[in-house]
Amino acid sequence: MTKRCDQVQAWKDLHQLKVQKTAFDLRVAFAENENRFNHFSLSAPHVFVDFSKCMWDEQVEDKLLELADQTAVFELRDAMFRGELINSTENRAVMHWLLRAPKTAALALATAKSHQEVQTTLELFLSFAEAVRTNPCITDIVNIGIGGSDLGPQMAIKALDEFVIPTKRFHFLSNIDAHEIGGLLRTLSPKNTLFLISSKSFSTLETMTNAEFAKEWFLAGGGQRVEDHFVGLTSNTQLAKAFGITTTFGFWDWVGGRYSMWSSIGLAIAIAIGEAGFRAFLGGAFEMDEHFKSADAQSNLPLKLGLLDVWYRNFLHYKSRNIAPYHSGLSRLTAYWQQLEMESNGKSVDKSGRGLTYGTAPVLWGEPGTNGQHAFFQMLHQGTDVIPVEFLVVKAPSHAHTRSHELLLSNALAQAQAFMIGESKVTPNPTGAGDEPFNAAAQMGRHFPGNRPSLFTVLERLTPQSLGALIALSEHRTFVAGAVWGINSFDQYGVELGKKLTQNIVSQMGSTHPVNIDPSTQGLMGHLALGQSSGKSV
Ligand code: F6P
Repeated sequence: MTKRCDQVQAWKDLHQLKVQKTAFDLRVAFAENENRFNHFSLSAPHVFVDFSKCMWDEQVEDKLLELADQTAVFELRDAMFRGELINSTENRAVMHWLLRAPKTAALALATAKSHQEVQTTLELFLSFAEAVRTNPCITDIVNIGIGGSDLGPQMAIKALDEFVIPTKRFHFLSNIDAHEIGGLLRTLSPKNTLFLISSKSFSTLETMTNAEFAKEWFLAGGGQRVEDHFVGLTSNTQLAKAFGITTTFGFWDWVGGRYSMWSSIGLAIAIAIGEAGFRAFLGGAFEMDEHFKSADAQSNLPLKLGLLDVWYRNFLHYKSRNIAPYHSGLSRLTAYWQQLEMESNGKSVDKSGRGLTYGTAPVLWGEPGTNGQHAFFQMLHQGTDVIPVEFLVVKAPSHAHTRSHELLLSNALAQAQAFMIGESKVTPNPTGAGDEPFNAAAQMGRHFPGNRPSLFTVLERLTPQSLGALIALSEHRTFVAGAVWGINSFDQYGVELGKKLTQNIVSQMGSTHPVNIDPSTQGLMGHLALGQSSGKSV
């Protein structure tokens, strides 16, 4: 049986190293090793990563590789690619990678039947996507779904704007807040709208409430034939049928919600960028799968990233990570990534159910650059906490405004540089005016400590392939950290309690004697007059 990370030798050694390296300084590390950039930069399909401004050195890196070895990360990876039931709490395989394996890929025999089913479903939903693309009556595609049934497609369509069919508009409805759906529907007409009801379970409260709302609006607005304007992307065809949907594209229990945009949940992406584009998207991800499967440990990018995450979280005790994509097309990347990493690795028991003595998923947050610079970067530069920043840039823009793109890239470079080098110069008189008294607060307020870490990721261009590779890279990176921590990265029981309690509140709205509801919640229910209004049903 694999030993838990906190019981292996490398873990203890890393603690030692951490103590020895308390005074580690990036500026000194560069001064002492002129090869640092070359040593700590790595290329994988479509993605280049510079790790040289990260808080580590070769000794730490080697020890982390030993940690991966001692916690059997590659064994778990191989088990995943063999289709074994590594989602132990739900007794399921984890095979989202199979969704991007081309027809001819050489795969483990045990996955052959599923591979065939994937290919058949893919053909079906891609040809449906082509039919929608060539149907001039459909001008608006509305994806109704939440979590993994929303974030991936929404992020990808925004990122791939350059490749999106110009004659269609794409909308995403996730929140149960009717301000959202009400506002959108006012701009649409039933006969020109196609609703994609995206839900693995077809029972998620937000999605079903919005789907009912959309159906009511469709019929009230004179819409004909629900079955032509509502499509189900789900594993639960029975419930979709009961809703009135006849066209469904399914997927399997071995595809987790947050890993599902490669399945029929990606139909909106396929309509947006077409069959060739969607296949290219899968192709880029497949290249990254192959890299993860076969690159040796030293040059395995997802492995290195996942190990860096462990070093940061468990040894340097960084609790959060700032995501800074310097590309407006990647403005939904952080939201997507939050679910991927925080739902996967936000766990506090190991696979045997034992409590953990170490931290797991950090908080991910961020906004695209340069906006973030003028909002929260102050805290990143001079705040009391060190928060690693993850820059992500695209070398070639999809517009012709070279100057503005170069300014954007220069900003990202300058910020990363500022985090590292800092500035301790204290000018005696910053205003230059006469004999002003020494203002210690103003002087020290100008001090930048520096030695703050960042990671710099570069894509040559933002294309379906490179986006596919980037996302698969993030999935595998999350896998690696979860594997070291010995947790199950593929369940999400943490979101269930809130859902159950919502049902309890909803079922007792308006009741004078609610049961199993604490006094504070009861007080608020009264204050909000829940269940006492006579509004519309949805
Ligand atoms: O929030 C929990 C969750 O189960 C996510 O994992 C999932 O992506 C989301 O809800 C939506 O679920 P479904 O696709 O079944 O509607």
